[in-house]
Order: sequence, then C-alpha cells, then structure tokens
Amino acid sequence: MKIVVVSNRVARARTDEPIAGGLASALFPMVKESGAIWVGSSGHAGDAAQTRDSFAKIEALGRGALATVDMPARHYRGYYEGFANSALWPALHSRPDLIQVTADEYSSYREVNAFMARSLLRFGGPETVFWIQDYHFLSLGAELRHLGIKRPIGFFLHTPWAERSTMAAVPHHGDLISAMLAYDLIGFQTEDDQRNFEDYLRLDLGVSIIDDVVTSKYGTTRLAVFPIGIDVDEFASRAAKAVARPEIMRLRASLQGARLALGVDRLDYSKGLANRLRAFDRLFELQPSAKRAVSLLQVAVPTRGNIRAYRELKNELATLVGEINGRHGEVDWIPIRYLNRGFAQSTLAGFYRVAHVGLVTPLHDGMNLVAKEYVAAQNPFDPGALVLSSFAGAAKELDAALIVNPHDVDAMAKQISRAFSMSLEERRERWQSMIARLREGSVQNWFSDFLQALAGVELVPARVAASDAAVMPIILDVAEGGRTAHSG
Ligand code: UDP
Ligand code: G6P
Repeated sequence: MKIVVVSNRVARARTDEPIAGGLASALFPMVKESGAIWVGSSGHAGDAAQTRDSFAKIEALGRGALATVDMPARHYRGYYEGFANSALWPALHSRPDLIQVTADEYSSYREVNAFMARSLLRFGGPETVFWIQDYHFLSLGAELRHLGIKRPIGFFLHTPWAERSTMAAVPHHGDLISAMLAYDLIGFQTEDDQRNFEDYLRLDLGVSIIDDVVTSKYGTTRLAVFPIGIDVDEFASRAAKAVARPEIMRLRASLQGARLALGVDRLDYSKGLANRLRAFDRLFELQPSAKRAVSLLQVAVPTRGNIRAYRELKNELATLVGEINGRHGEVDWIPIRYLNRGFAQSTLAGFYRVAHVGLVTPLHDGMNLVAKEYVAAQNPFDPGALVLSSFAGAAKELDAALIVNPHDVDAMAKQISRAFSMSLEERRERWQSMIARLREGSVQNWFSDFLQALAGVELVPARVAASDAAVMPIILDVAEGGRTAHSG
C-alpha cells in the first residue's frame, strides 16, 4: 500500500528551520516515520507547470519522500492569495466580512486543483491511497475521480468549518462543496465542525446523511472527527534539551526573576492577537503591582503578506505594542517583547519551557498545536499554566487549562493574572490532566486512525532520527508512466 499525502504547504526537509503552520508541523514527522510520499507546492510558479512531469524536486524524508511541484504561473496568485486565503480562509474562520474575491480567482482555484490532480497521476499505482489536506484542495478529489481514479481518497480539514450561513458567503459555495463529496472520507478537527458541515449539506444542498454517511452521485462519503495531535515525547525531550541552549539561557537571565507569558502565532487575524495585547494592557491597569513582575514575549510570525488584511493587521499590532510599551514601560523594563520572525521548534521548545504562562487565545482555530506543544514542553515538577481560548479546537481536549473567551478582554486579563499566581499544586494537577489527554491523542494516532478508517491501512511507524533524512536512500516506484526516482 502506497500512501500519498497532498497539501499546499510542505515542511522543508531540514528540522532546524521554523515550520509554517500546524499542518506541515504534523505531517513532517508522520511522513518520516510512515514512508508516505508527501506532495505539495514548491511555493514557486513556473510555466513548465502546465505539463504533467513538472516536479521541481523529489527528496528523501526519513522513510518517506517529499515531492514538490511548481504551480501554474497564470493561476497561482488567484488560487493561493485569492480564493484559498481571501475567500475560504476568512469564511472558515467566521470572518465573511473579509471575503474579497473575483470570479477569475475561483477559476484559478479550480484550475490549480485540476493541475494537482494531473500531477498526482504519476504516483497513482493500483495500491495507492490518496490523502488530501486542507482548504486549498477542496475539489481535488473530484478532479482525481474525473481522471478515473477509483482508489480511496480521503480529505482532512485542518481549519474549523463555519456555520452554514457563513459558508454560504463564499462565492460558488454550492458547486465547490458538492465536489467535496467525491472524497470517501472527510475528517474534521471537532464535532462542531462536522455538525456545521452536515447542516450545510442537509439544508443548502438537500442531501441526506445517515449514520455519518452521505450518498451522492459520487457514491458514499463518510464524515468523522480526528483531532490532530503532537509527538508528546519528542517535544518534551526537545524542551528538556533546549534549556541549555545559549538563547534560552539568555532569555531566562533577562527575566531577572520576573514571570513570563508567551504567545506563539502566525500573524493571522484568527489568532486574536490584538485582544491578547489589550488584555495585557488591562492587566497592568487593574493591577499596577504586576509591572516589572510579569511580561509577555509574543512571537508573531509574518504570514500571507501579500494580502491586505494581513498587512493591515501587522500595522495594527505594531501600533498597539508601541502604545502599550509606551504607556507602561520603564527605562529598564518593557511589558511586551514583540518579535516578527519564526524560530525552529528546537528553540520554541525552550521558550515554552521557560514561560510561566502559555497564552493561546485565538478567535477561531481548527486545533492549535502551539497549545499542545506548550503543555508537552513543561517541566513535570514545576509546570507552567495554560490560558486557552474556548474557540480553539484544542480546548475540547485541554479542558484543564484556564479557558477564556477571547472577546472578553477584562475577563482575559483576570485569568492571565490568575495563571501567573497559580499554586504549584494546582499547576501540577491541571498539567497532569492535560498531558494524559495529549498522550491519548498523539499525532501518530491521528495519522493511523485516519488511514485505518479510509483504507484499513495498519501502520507501524518507526522513529527515524533527524539525521537519517539526509542519508537514507529512497526508491519511489512510480506505477503509471512516470520515471522511477532515486535520491539520497
Ligand atoms: N511554529 C514554528 N516556528 C515558529 C512559530 C510556529 O515552527 O516560530 C510551528 C509551531 O511549532 C506549530 C505550528 O508552527 O507546530 C503552528 O501550528 P498551530 O496549529 O498552532 O497554528 P497554525 O499556524 O497552523 O494556524
Ligand atoms: C494553517 C493552515 C495550513 C497552512 C498554515 C500556514 O495551519 O491550516 O494549511 O499551511 O496555516 O499557512 P500558509 O499559507 O503559510 O501555508
């Protein structure tokens, strides 16, 4: 059985670079361990991309392989910045007011989906199982069926699925969502997401659903929930090692005994960053004694910078940080350290371990792996406290965190203050409950549960050392007309 995983974004084959988002972060170890082939965008547009054999690069990734493809130049912007990230992303995150899209951009989205389907044919042997990821490729399954692929095709949505009236704000929603029924299995992060999707199917498409199974012209599609997880032991061991790294020692020393809260997010409007900063502002107003005693390190990684909503958010946050630091700061202390760049997970793990409070307060988030990584990285004998939005998928499992409403700034300020002063006993109790939940729902379980449900595939993943990726030879047996690729 050959597993082909497809996503727009892939992680680079090196582990010492920041990872752009939870999807790539979850798939990276799983491809390495399972031997799957991971196909995604090279991030470049090329004219040769109209042809079938346009793979920019195929390289080994542990036991698996990473194959990236140049995207069609004429359609890439309309697909990625346009329909995917200026129509689907805002709708999925319940921000229909931010939808800004043209009819051409929808055509580009469909064209890129069709192009990716053609590119995948070279991996499509009789034993192949296709697993498509996320909102960039809602219609890829239908395109694969159109090309005659009969084998199992699954789809997993990493984001939330919004209420039906919000999804109905997406131009061409009926056409697009009907095409999703070409998948054999559609996986969601939470039950709320699945319920919203079902409501849409029933009420807008008039489709009936019996026992989580939808019947359409394509056949049957099963709907199910597979909450994504992390590799808990890997993160715990990275965090334990990271404390000896020079930058982590510098961070700790710079605190001079004060307590630190940490936020780590892409600079995205779904992450609730402005309200988080306002809550910190409010904390210093409500409790002046908190000045010098606590501060915030906010890592805000620039993302999708060609889209206006993201540029405006970047400016808004820079202004807000400046105002708060200007209002409360002193000659030798500032309340907010604000960094607009990404860090390797080996460094992040050290930040998590040093921070007394983890702040994860999105307005909407499919899961939020940062919340899980923060918990996994804690010192079991002296764990930090997690403040978590009720609108993150992770709140369903991590209900022992301090759960907050990210729209209620005053209440958030109070919970942040509570987190800073939580007793060791309470922190340990909450942490033990959370780490137990994380172990039940690891990324390994997510990966194998989905494939088991899709195709009855039993996976026995093997851990692969990071250094193996560079040396392990890999042979991709390409079944349909393609060349055989060797690398390593
Ligand atoms: N991440 C990283 N470096 C950074 C910031 C984030 O490698 O500087 C990783 C982080 O470890 C996590 C992922 O990016 O695995 C973010 O995933 P999450 O689900 O929290 O949010 P998303 O970005 O997918 O919305
Ligand atoms: C979220 C999405 C992913 C995406 C990631 C980073 O996690 O669910 O599909 O890859 O954000 O966004 P980017 O646009 O940089 O790929």
